[in-house]
Amino acid sequence: MSTKPKNIILGISAGIAAYRMYDLVNELKKQGHNVTVVLTKDAKNFVSELPLKVLSGNPVYSEMFCPKEQNKPIHIDLADNADLVLVAPATADIIAKMATGICDELITNILLATTAPVYLAPAMNTNMWDHFTTQKNIETLVTKIGYKIIAPEEGDLACGYSGVGHIAPNERIIKTILLGENEVRPLLGKKVIITAGGTREAIDPVRYIGNKSSGKMGIAIADAAYNLGADVVLISTVYAEKKYQVIEVETAQELQEVIEAEFDKADALIMAAAVSDYKPMKTSKQKIKKKNEDLTLELIKNPDILEILGRTKREKQIIVGFSAESEEMEKNAKEKLVKKKIDMIVANDITVPDLGFGSDENAVIILTKDGQRECLQRQPKIQIAKHICQKLAELFLSIKEAKEV
Ligand SMILES: Cc1cc2nc3c(=O)[nH]c(=O)nc-3n(C[C@H](O)[C@H](O)[C@H](O)COP(=O)(O)O)c2cc1C
Repeated sequence: MSTKPKNIILGISAGIAAYRMYDLVNELKKQGHNVTVVLTKDAKNFVSELPLKVLSGNPVYSEMFCPKEQNKPIHIDLADNADLVLVAPATADIIAKMATGICDELITNILLATTAPVYLAPAMNTNMWDHFTTQKNIETLVTKIGYKIIAPEEGDLACGYSGVGHIAPNERIIKTILLGENEVRPLLGKKVIITAGGTREAIDPVRYIGNKSSGKMGIAIADAAYNLGADVVLISTVYAEKKYQVIEVETAQELQEVIEAEFDKADALIMAAAVSDYKPMKTSKQKIKKKNEDLTLELIKNPDILEILGRTKREKQIIVGFSAESEEMEKNAKEKLVKKKIDMIVANDITVPDLGFGSDENAVIILTKDGQRECLQRQPKIQIAKHICQKLAELFLSIKEAKEV
């Protein structure tokens, strides 16, 4: 990756993933960057100064009070000369210190003193990562201080656990810090089912009852959820080739069967698909021939998937519904939210020309069961999708907070 050479401070804290920093320093140096390593006192249990010094070609720092005194205190000197600061691995301990401004180590002093961008690559046991305080601290660092998190991955951890907490691969860390990407992935570790498209209910082998849904909104939401780290299952009536799991369905019944098979393991369901309320009582095996008299189709009701799942879902599961309305949009959406016992509803007015069905844009009102209301003016569906997924992440956080209190 060719970018302008940078002065990088690499803070290594005391996690088992510290050994990976030998390779990271080596790679950054090879790419022409100037890396200065700062170790926490406890990190010295995991890595040695000598190889880091040789690999970086710079002194390795750890002590606040250096014997070779310079004009400026060492923490200010390093902080002022940094183009960016990376803490990797970032322990739960150092994350907590950064969130509260504790300066008991050289690296924590540098972090408070620097105005350069700060990146953290957390790594720890799954329960430590999932802990309310760690998540709250991460949220503070991201939203209040502007630090960038290079999210840990799911995998088998050195502590014997399997789950989220594995440090991001060096390749991802380097790409993120050098391109200045923000890698916040608040849906990491969450399994999210998203439905997309419009169901088709067969009348005969060639005809069906369908609707105008193109699947664009649902697919945009699935992409956004995936980018925010979710383990996505997209159940769609339209074909989509994606990096995540896609299950193609046609009828409301197929959709319901797949959702029911997946829902138990899921943390959230976003029902963006337009599901047919009715289906023909009988599907003719042969094409129905045109006759001289009128034809009456008898329709029966499809089960209300949202209503069933809203009633039976676990407390921690989140359901987001959609409400396509042609009149009294907000009133109807609110009623649907309450009646179906779901957590959030996204309402759109289908009478507005060039908006919603088939379009790349939409305008929606988002209502949550705890009374929040947000109005998103006309904008690309991709933006709306990102917003819905951010909102979902907030709902997960509020459930966690309520549980911890
Ligand atoms: C073998 C071992 C491995 C550890 N791995 C981690 C880890 O991966 N992440 C973490 O947050 N803490 C880990 N810890 C705990 C930290 O080392 C401990 O909280 C330490 O005080 C952190 O110091 P520092 O944040 O100042 O570097 C580990 C401890 C031991 C003994």
